[in-house]
Amino acid sequence: MPVTIIIGAQWGDEGKGRAVDWLAAQADVVARFSGGDNAGHTVYVGDEVFKMHLIPSGILHPQALCVLGNGMVINPVNLLKEIDMLREMGVDISPSRLKISSKAHLITPAHIALDAANEKARGKDAIGTTLRGIGPAYLDKTGRKGIRAGEMRDLEAFGELIRQAIQSANQTLAQYDADLLDAQSVAEAYVQAAHQLRPYLADTTYLLNQKLKAGANVLCEGAQGTLLDVDHGSYPFVTSSNPTIGGALAGLGIGARYVQQVIGVAKCFSTRVGSGPMPTELDGDIANRLRGTGENFWDEYGTTTGRPRRCGWLDAVMLRYSCDVNGYTSLAVTKMDILSGFDELKIAVAYEVDGVQVDYPPDTVAALERAKPIYETFPGWEQDITNARSFSDLPLAAQNYLKRIGELCDVPIAMISVGPEREQFIVMEQVLAT
Ligand code: IMP
Repeated sequence: MPVTIIIGAQWGDEGKGRAVDWLAAQADVVARFSGGDNAGHTVYVGDEVFKMHLIPSGILHPQALCVLGNGMVINPVNLLKEIDMLREMGVDISPSRLKISSKAHLITPAHIALDAANEKARGKDAIGTTLRGIGPAYLDKTGRKGIRAGEMRDLEAFGELIRQAIQSANQTLAQYDADLLDAQSVAEAYVQAAHQLRPYLADTTYLLNQKLKAGANVLCEGAQGTLLDVDHGSYPFVTSSNPTIGGALAGLGIGARYVQQVIGVAKCFSTRVGSGPMPTELDGDIANRLRGTGENFWDEYGTTTGRPRRCGWLDAVMLRYSCDVNGYTSLAVTKMDILSGFDELKIAVAYEVDGVQVDYPPDTVAALERAKPIYETFPGWEQDITNARSFSDLPLAAQNYLKRIGELCDVPIAMISVGPEREQFIVMEQVLAT
């Protein structure tokens, strides 16, 4: 490697967990660098479905050490639930396999209550957050009053910090007319969680750099997606972190000189959950077909919230932008099997905004809302492609669709997923150069 960074190239839910799971087989360390349990990564192994919100999908590979980086915001109670769930499913999740950055920030019930209160107050302009307390936790971090995971080392002092934080948040909640929290019981629950999580704490900046100096392969697992980035997404309809390339380095404390590959994971059509502009969004039959019925775990319903996702054709204008922001060395294109059976497919190659054709997304939400996609149309294919294991196994129409994506983005496609199972994957080249 030594460092490979996986980034969501669109609005999240691109199927990054699958790509990470594939690459993690050769990784010594798998690290998450941003976001919290707003993420939902699903990996399907044999008959079992693993749904992770905080712990990297790499945990399913016994040789990989997993890291929750300093750029994350972590709900300790939910993290413990996830640890227990994985342990019950037979996964080794001892402190020798999982490290929590002492510099990561903690999410408290106050952040969750404030997230709900903020959303309610925004009314029709609500962001459509996952209500996991992500925004308020990052707000406390940048406002320099957050509580970091390392505080859990001293249980008594930690309990007091939590109690004070809840009491202070209650004042704000009162202004919103929201229910107040019982500071004492929250502090007790958090001290209990801290007691169990303390063995997992580490200075992961030091750890990762020691590993890199010793030649380890580190895989950085992105969450959310580029178009939800607080700087580069359609602000304010974004998450509160940088799920992009810069966030990966800052969120782990590692330098650019180790980075060998940046892989953008892009779904072969578009989905978005929550509010905000989505130029290629469709209603009706095509959207319903892309979304699926919700009976299968791979259908387009949120892993974290269960909300139906907004669906539409692939937006290559946005994807090109995502390539610029992150400098991908390659792309992984996912869910190609879902496109089987369409008579024709479309890709947005430009927009018309106020009568002018543009090939770059406008930089304001208002203009993006007015953008009308200009499509190229492609013939579809009938065949089931879930058994394809090489590019040449794919029908010509699928090959042409993929080639056009590569051309439009000017980035090579390294991986293609053709089904939900671990093996339903085409690797175009040796992407993990050792
Ligand atoms: P938050 O991250 O919960 O504050 O939500 C902010 C926006 O990001 C909302 O539109 C969410 O639907 C979206 N979002 C957050 N996490 C994910 C994710 O993992 N996948 C897709 N969308 C997400």
